[in-house]
Formats: sequence, structure tokens, C-alpha cells
Amino acid sequence: MDVTILGGTKLGEPLKARVPEHVSNLLCQAGALADQLSVRAFVVGGFVRDLLLGIENFDLDLVIEGDGIAFARALGRNLGVHVQVYDRFGTAVLMLPHRVKLDVATARGESYAHPTALPVVKPGSLEKDLFRRDFTINTLAIPLNRTGFGELLDVRGGLRDLQRKTIRVLHDRSFVDDPTRLFRAIRFAQRFGFRMEANTLRLLKEAAATDLVHRLSGPRLRNEIMLLLAEKDVSRTIQRMGTMDLLRFIHPRLRPTLQVEILLKHIAPIMAWWTKRFPDRPLDRPLIYLMGLIDGLTLSAAEAVLKRLAFPNRQADKVRHVKQSLPSALRTLSARRSLKPSGVYRPLAALPDEGLVLLAAKSTSLSDNVHATVKREISAYLTTYRHITPSLTGDDLTDLGLKPGPLYKKILGRLRDARLNEEVSTKAEERALVKRIAKL
Ligand code: CTP
Repeated sequence: MDVTILGGTKLGEPLKARVPEHVSNLLCQAGALADQLSVRAFVVGGFVRDLLLGIENFDLDLVIEGDGIAFARALGRNLGVHVQVYDRFGTAVLMLPHRVKLDVATARGESYAHPTALPVVKPGSLEKDLFRRDFTINTLAIPLNRTGFGELLDVRGGLRDLQRKTIRVLHDRSFVDDPTRLFRAIRFAQRFGFRMEANTLRLLKEAAATDLVHRLSGPRLRNEIMLLLAEKDVSRTIQRMGTMDLLRFIHPRLRPTLQVEILLKHIAPIMAWWTKRFPDRPLDRPLIYLMGLIDGLTLSAAEAVLKRLAFPNRQADKVRHVKQSLPSALRTLSARRSLKPSGVYRPLAALPDEGLVLLAAKSTSLSDNVHATVKREISAYLTTYRHITPSLTGDDLTDLGLKPGPLYKKILGRLRDARLNEEVSTKAEERALVKRIAKL
């Protein structure tokens, strides 16, 4: 990946040329408003980094030297959009058309009450604001006021590190101030193919060897882990985390084994197959990787992971179902004998889509034959089997003289199996089957 603007620090015209018109209009409008309100406005961080790398990014972070919230409210009024304000942090968010998200913050020289705490916000200058950030590549800023519009401000050597493809912290306490940066460092290195500067790597390893990460809340740690699992080449990320002894914060028994590595590598091609085959069934991709990562752990260890990372119920339930049902589903589907449709339906119906993907990925290691069969069976399940239901309902069973109870579920299940296997095809045949099953 090349930094496409090298020597020049004047981005005014190139800035306009490099971003879509609606983004450059927005930046100009923000600049004009800043002049009007007599404050200084800058676009900073990831947007500027990605602009220089030639990567599209519609998450804009503005820093205001002055009242950021008043600025955001005025901008929201001008643009006719809702402004979500977070008073405690002095920040506000504007959701704009064309997937643009605009964060506005008051420039701050914040301090941390204790490591891992959320920062205490104090007003400050842009320079101070940039000095408290994570890595040099995220400290670049571009002024938006008419004077200086588009000039690249590089107070910490961020441009040089972009050119040298280097992740570098701004000071030795960076990881201690905010241990989420341990994961962020790996995320950026992974995403851009950058290396860690020697001192940064040393500090990272030192911080990883302490208990700092244990002090991060479940949601914050989960957020970092899931962002890492959303990057490309997860298998490599996990190897890196293993080398840096960071997997223990997910679970003390988690290891980057060869088995994990192979399974994670098999997930991407299956997801590609799935997306092509079932475009209307979007996947929780990072969750699939998490399931793959903890595939070797016991059920109770997996529960501990869900608890530590404070997963919301919906995701936690998916992980549990997969943990409980996937091994037997894989055994059933990979058995030599050929299965009736009901024999395919039952194990697959117990799995969420993410579990089906993991199942197909796991089958890759068995044999080409089994793998092809499993994929075919998943396709048949999704396109056909799961739509097949019996014609009779609970009311029909009552009409047949059966007492409502757990037996209904069993009978309706048997009817669905019979339908799937084409042993019955009419309501009358279903009734006859019910009578035989219930010995009426
Ligand atoms: N930041 C930081 N320390 C953190 C989190 C964020 O210093 N622990 C700063 C960085 O300067 C970063 C900016 O806040 O650029 C915005 O954070 P975020 O949106 O998380 O990062 P991006 O750099 O925009 O990364 P991504 O492209 O992954 O969104």
C-alpha cells in the first residue's frame, strides 16, 4: 500500500479532488461555519490517514478548538440532520446521507484518572488533542477554516510513519493509559500490512505481560476483539495475538494451535461461497471467527469467554447453540451412509447461519467428498427443506381427538419428516399417519 501524497503538505485542491463531492462539500461547509463561529475546525485521525493511503473512509472525526457541541448543533441545523450529543465527553455525532458519519469533538487535553478508566475531559488545543492519541499515523490533521484549508498538519511525524509503514506510539505510557491500544496496534498493522516500530513492540509486549487488559470492561474488550476479527486474514491476526500472549485475555486456555489456524483459514472461502449463493442471508462474520477460535475449548470454557466478553444474548445464544450442536451435526453429515432429507434437516435446523458456515469450514478438513456433500446438504436445507412444513396444525390434531401437550411437537415433527422424505403428500395422508403414530 502506498502513501499517495508524499512530499507536498498542501492538500487543499487535492483534498477536494480525492474525496467524493458530497464529502468535500461537507468539509467546506464545516470550514465556513467554523469561520462564522470564530472557532478552528480540523478533520483528524483515521479519515486523514486513509485519505493519504488512498482508502475510502466515510467516518469523519472533526476536532474543534472552541465549543464542539455548539458547533455540531449549528452544523446539524445547517444540514437539516439530527445531532446526537454526548455531553460528558464533549462529543456529538451526525449521521448523514451516503453512509457518512461525522463525529465532532471539542479539542481536549484529557487525562486518565487511572489506567483503563474513561478519559476525564478538559478543553484544550488541537495540538494537545493530537498528543494524547494512540499512534503517529492517527495524529494527522487538516484545517477546514478558509485560512489553511487543506494544509496537512503533521505534529508527530505521522506522514513519515505512513510512508515507512510503521505503527509507533507517541509516548511510553500509551498502552498503560489505554490497553485497548494493544489490540488497535495489531489491528492497524494487520489492516495496512505495517510493522511495529521496535520500541512500540517492546512496550506492547511489556503491557501484554501485565494484567492491564484484565481491567478492561467486557464490552470494551469485546469491541476490540470483534474489530480484530473483522479484519482480513484472521488466522494471521490470531498468530500475532498468540505471539504477544494476548489470547489469554479471551481465555487462559486459548492457544493459536495449528488446528485453529487451519480452521480459521477455511472460513473465508466458505463465507465467499455463502455470500454468492445466499446473498440475502447476511452473516455475523466476526462471530463466525470467534466460534472458530474457541472451537477447541470445552463448553464451560466457552461460557467463560461469553461472560468475560459480555456478549449480548443474541450472539451468546448463537455461540452456545453451535457449541452444543455442531459436533454431532458434523458427525451425522459426514457419516458414510446417505441421509434422508429429514436426516439432513434435523441437525442443520439446530444451527444458526453462522454455525452452518462453521460446519462447512470444519468439513473442509475431512475429505473433498464429505466437504462437497456438506455444502450440498446445507444448500438443500436452506433452499428447500427449511420451507417444508406439515399441512396439519395443532388445531387439526385437536380435531382428531388428541389432547394438547408435548406430544403435539413430536407428532408435528414426525409429520414434517414424512413430508421431507416424501412419504406423505396430502392432508389425508398426514391424518392417516397421525392416526398410526397415536394409535387412534
Ligand atoms: N484514538 C486513540 N486511542 C484509542 C482510540 C482512538 O488515540 N484507544 C484516536 C485515534 O487518533 C483515532 C481516533 O481516536 O484515529 C478515532 O478512533 P477510531 O474511530 O476508533 O479509529 P480510526 O483511526 O478512525 O480507525 P478505524 O479506521 O478502524 O475506524
